[in-house]
Amino acid sequence: MTPPTTDAARFTQIADALADPGWCLTPDFLSGPEVQSIRAAAASLEAQGAFAPAGVGRGRDLLVRAAVRSDRVCWLDPAARDGAIGAYLARLEDLRQALNRDLTLGLFSFEGHLASYPPGACYRRHVDQFRGVELRTLTAILYLNPDWQPADGGTLRLYTDPDRPDHYETIAPRGGTLVTFLSVRFEHEVMAATRERLSLTGWFKRRG
Ligand code: OGA
Ligand code: MN
Repeated sequence: MTPPTTDAARFTQIADALADPGWCLTPDFLSGPEVQSIRAAAASLEAQGAFAPAGVGRGRDLLVRAAVRSDRVCWLDPAARDGAIGAYLARLEDLRQALNRDLTLGLFSFEGHLASYPPGACYRRHVDQFRGVELRTLTAILYLNPDWQPADGGTLRLYTDPDRPDHYETIAPRGGTLVTFLSVRFEHEVMAATRERLSLTGWFKRRG
């Protein structure tokens, strides 16, 4: 199948895949130069000290547990429309509207962060939901790593088959790749990499 070249076509492909099987891989959502621009914005946020160790859970449950998750994150203003990150968030907003037209997910708002995994960092098998609250509906992960090689590791394992709990799809965090999946449905895990691994991960949420 030839990859779609317009956002309208990409969004249709994503909507179809989310309807069944519930997840979608879009390898060239961003071009190389677009990836580089977001990397530059991330480097400048890093230089301003905007990244902090990621937590697990929330509120009183929020713990920074390196054994579970050892990335550093920079939360983004979802309303930002300036610069390379703003341009990407605007496209995600278009995606949200397209999905709400095509599916009945009721995606209402977005929250997201840049995540930087230093070499050796991982994020153990988990579901993108806080205990007892099911607002996170769709996960959207954008990878920002140019020239990623298989030997660099850092794959995402997406456990796609409820009948085979140990079966997973292997997704490389190649620059420009977008992965979307229904947040409640799929456990997933980030394997350690041999080099820094950068992503922009976000969640479309239902109305609270
Ligand atoms: C997360 C997550 C996966 C990845 O941030 O919740 O699972 O591949 N990220 O970065
Ligand atoms: Mn996750």
